[in-house]
Amino acid sequence: MRICVVGAGYVGITTATALADFGHEVLCVDREHSKIDSLTQGKVPIYEPGLEELINKNFQKDRLHFSSHVEESIRDYPIILIAVGTPSKEDGSSNLSFINQVVKIIASNIKDYKIIITKSTVPPGTNEWIHQTLVEMGIAEELFDIVSNPEFLREGTALWDIYHPNKLVFGTKTDRPIKVLKKLYKRGNAPFIFTSLTGAELIKYASNAFLATKISFANEMARICDVYEVNYTDIYKGLATDPRIGRHFLNAGLGFGGSCLPKDLSSLKHSALRQNVETKLLDAVMEINDTQIELYLSKLSMALPDLADKQITVWGVTYKPGTDDLRSSPAIALIKQLVQMGCRVHTYDPMVHLELSDVSSYIDQYESVTNSDALIIATEWDQFHKCNWSEVVSRMKGSIILDARNCIDGKTVRRHGLHYLGVGK
Ligand code: UDX
Repeated sequence: MRICVVGAGYVGITTATALADFGHEVLCVDREHSKIDSLTQGKVPIYEPGLEELINKNFQKDRLHFSSHVEESIRDYPIILIAVGTPSKEDGSSNLSFINQVVKIIASNIKDYKIIITKSTVPPGTNEWIHQTLVEMGIAEELFDIVSNPEFLREGTALWDIYHPNKLVFGTKTDRPIKVLKKLYKRGNAPFIFTSLTGAELIKYASNAFLATKISFANEMARICDVYEVNYTDIYKGLATDPRIGRHFLNAGLGFGGSCLPKDLSSLKHSALRQNVETKLLDAVMEINDTQIELYLSKLSMALPDLADKQITVWGVTYKPGTDDLRSSPAIALIKQLVQMGCRVHTYDPMVHLELSDVSSYIDQYESVTNSDALIIATEWDQFHKCNWSEVVSRMKGSIILDARNCIDGKTVRRHGLHYLGVGK
């Protein structure tokens, strides 16, 4: 099949590459010339394990191409997959200006039948609006089908997720595109879920809202465990062994970040409120998440009074391990707050050399703790729980280790004479 993927961002590049690897002929387009130029030279602007190799493999097989000629490409290809960004506006609703632009380009370039697939996360009603807009712009309904096909990719494991989906969700208005959609993702035994356009949009929001709810639930339980001096890890084991609950997304810590969970929750809340539906549960989920940093900082200031002027090292700056993404990273919010409080902040991250005013970034993990009063683990990179604590002890001035991701063995740290702090540990 011939597919034009519009948008060479995270979702666009990974989806285009995987579809090419499935054997389709794929062209990924973006107006940003510099991005397309570097992709054409095999340089990938995002970090995703295995992606660069897969792009090169499909270049060689002549199945994957990149271009900045958006209009012509949309005109030429029978399947258009929209993967442009839908960032948050100030008020938390989704900014759909890129979607708008693409719809206008499609409207001016439809000459023959097209399947238009929306991969971008869009608020409920958007795909119906796209359909209606095309009709109002004079495009006959026989000339197109709109499909809402949300993605469920996690950064760091995006390719695995595409190759091993647990479901494939398609919202359609008619049965006409279904045969083609089944052929498009012909791998694995994942169930197909067919629903309405808005149904598919809401499945995406419901998934991310539920994952976020599990995390805030874990964080609230850890707060309760803390006052009863119970280890949340034991509670986690009790929960995770129950198949009705499941073991995923129950790790307590600094809270959820990244480009999707916070944005999608705000957007869903905004959409619900516009329809006069109150979102009490979502509000609580967001409130718990928004106060996690405060909670950890109050732990730290109890153990280390007069925080201002202290030297604090933060290990991990990305929003989760396995990525170089800093978007809505709780670690960054924590660092900014420490700076605001007057602390001298040092950072180390295995993937990112942070460039932030008033923050000193180190390329050596151990050098970053030299003379520090406290060390905070803000992202649970593997190498942190395997770290050389004797080296840390010999370099630090103080002795406080604040484990904000519940990823360090407290006993090991204490054996080295360090003062281990956590919430629910
Ligand atoms: C998420 C969804 O998982 C994915 O389906 C969707 O398409 C995009 O958004 P991603 O943002 O890559 O993916 O990260 P994810 O692995 O879901 O983690 C999100 C955040 O939750 C991270 O900040 C992570 O640290 C945090 N998290 C996750 C926890 O705090 N505890 C957990 O138990 C799990």
